[in-house]
Order: sequence, then C-alpha cells, then structure tokens
Amino acid sequence: MANIAPKLPDGLKKEFEQIVAQYEFKRGALLPLLHKVQEHSGYLEQDILVGIAGYLNIPQVDVFEIATFYTLFNTRPVGNNVILVCDSISCYLKDEEKVFAQIKRILQIGSGETTSDGKFTLFTTSCIGACDRAPAMMVNDKTFFKLTPEKITDILKEY
Ligand code: FES
Repeated sequence: MANIAPKLPDGLKKEFEQIVAQYEFKRGALLPLLHKVQEHSGYLEQDILVGIAGYLNIPQVDVFEIATFYTLFNTRPVGNNVILVCDSISCYLKDEEKVFAQIKRILQIGSGETTSDGKFTLFTTSCIGACDRAPAMMVNDKTFFKLTPEKITDILKEY
C-alpha cells in the first residue's frame, strides 16, 4: 500500500467522540464511524480510513477490510445518487437482469460507473434482504421492490 497520510474528516471530531463514547471498546465504533464519514463525504477516502485506524488504535488492514467488504460503503467518489441493484439468486430468478439492463440503457452507464452529469452511480450488490419482494434495488437509503423495467423509468425520474 502506498504511504498515505492519516487524516480525520473536518468537522466530525465531536460526532466521532460521541459515537466512540457509546462503546466499551473503541473498536466497536468502526462501522458507525465509517457510516458517518460516508454520510458526510459521500465516500471513504484512503487517508480517512488510515486516520480512523489510528483514531481507534486498530490495524489499518482491519479498517480497509470492512470498508471494502460491504457494498454499502464507497471507497471512491460516487454520483449524488448511488443505485445498488441486487443480483443475488432470488432477484436473479425474478428477472433482475431486465431491470439492470433498463437502468443501464436509460443512464448510459455500466456497473461501477457514474453518469457524466454526476447524478448517478450504478452498482450491483448481493442480497439486500428483500428476497420476498424481488427483484429489489436501493437508491441511496431507499429500497424499491418488485421492480420491472417500466417501474425503473418512473423511479429514476424521481431523482
Ligand atoms: S436476493 Fe435480492 S433481495 Fe435477496
């Protein structure tokens, strides 16, 4: 890994302290801190991850593992709206591929890409816990169920 200068996000010091104070062991605050940073900055910069490792006094590799394991965390800049389309088995069996193709067609981007206007970034993800209402996707914090290509057009208009 390149030499990265540790840093903590500007303006989150007090919130970091409040989060950490809720845990007996500082390490337990890792996930909430990552969520807070993403909420604040839109993604998790490498130097911030290094800063969090130092702040919690835990190995950097542990922080990077968590940040890259969960698809809900972005480790590079993303658009204003992040679309996560579930491609796990229940959604796949309910024509998730048609839904995904419709999103790609409308936005003119592929998985992992951001529209040229910076409005949307598109990813596939594993199960988001809505298998009984498949196919499903999330746009930012909102989950959409029983998707069809027709519904996608209306949903994207909302954003
Ligand atoms: S398989 Fe898609 S929500 Fe579970």
